[in-house]
Amino acid sequence: MQTSHQDEHYLSAEADAFHERNHASNDPHTLRPYKRRILDRLDKVAIKPKRMIEFGCAYGDLLNHYAVEHGTEVFGVEPSAKAVDVGMNAYDGRVNLMQGTMADNPICADPANEGTFDLIVVDDVFCWVSRETLFQSVANLDALLADGGSLYIQEFLPLHQTRNANHHVTEGGVYCYKPRGPHMSMFTASGMYEVVYQEISLDTADAWVEDRGKPPFESRWSNVVLRKSLGDYFE
Ligand SMILES: C[S@@+](CC[C@H](N)C(=O)[O-])C[C@H]1O[C@@H](n2cnc3c(N)ncnc32)[C@H](O)[C@@H]1O
Repeated sequence: MQTSHQDEHYLSAEADAFHERNHASNDPHTLRPYKRRILDRLDKVAIKPKRMIEFGCAYGDLLNHYAVEHGTEVFGVEPSAKAVDVGMNAYDGRVNLMQGTMADNPICADPANEGTFDLIVVDDVFCWVSRETLFQSVANLDALLADGGSLYIQEFLPLHQTRNANHHVTEGGVYCYKPRGPHMSMFTASGMYEVVYQEISLDTADAWVEDRGKPPFESRWSNVVLRKSLGDYFE
């Protein structure tokens, strides 16, 4: 696997700093509102997973909800050791959390996990994956997902490609990547993934954003559910 300054920086510093800035005072037993919206969208397409994994899951509140409400076997991978600690202490062992990145983590390193998950969630994480490890990350997700399984992706849907430096990282070299495309098209281009649900929205704080000197629609969001099939989408 290629080395990545960005992934290393998340693992060693920025993911914990993000946790401290945004989640340190949260009650892990309260499902965050934007996680509830993910739940509502998955309900619309009647997804009740038996075995689920979320990448960049923070402390795992969405995973805990599925474990409690549906008896789902749940796993999460998150670069923040602090967030992993919070979830491991809060949920009585229901949620299996581990520190890692999409590209490099204990779940993907174990061949026994191949094709065993019927739901993967990636909520606003792809833009933070370094370009060096992006293809490895996509390959890892595809390897875990069962034939017929679902992949939920929340991500930006810009008109133009942009790359914004993470201003919390003073030494630089860490970016939020918003490719035109966007990342979900890396899956659909394979012919093995079809969009079964999509919701597009504008970040109200940013809205049209031209007046803020940013490219139009830089903060347009896409929420999709992709369904995987190894054969069904080919004639
Ligand atoms: C902006 S937050 C998105 C919201 C987050 N999914 C949640 O549930 O709170 C980005 C999350 O992705 C994690 N992350 C960053 N780079 C990652 C990577 N390469 N692989 C997996 N997670 C990553 C961060 O630590 C952080 O928790």
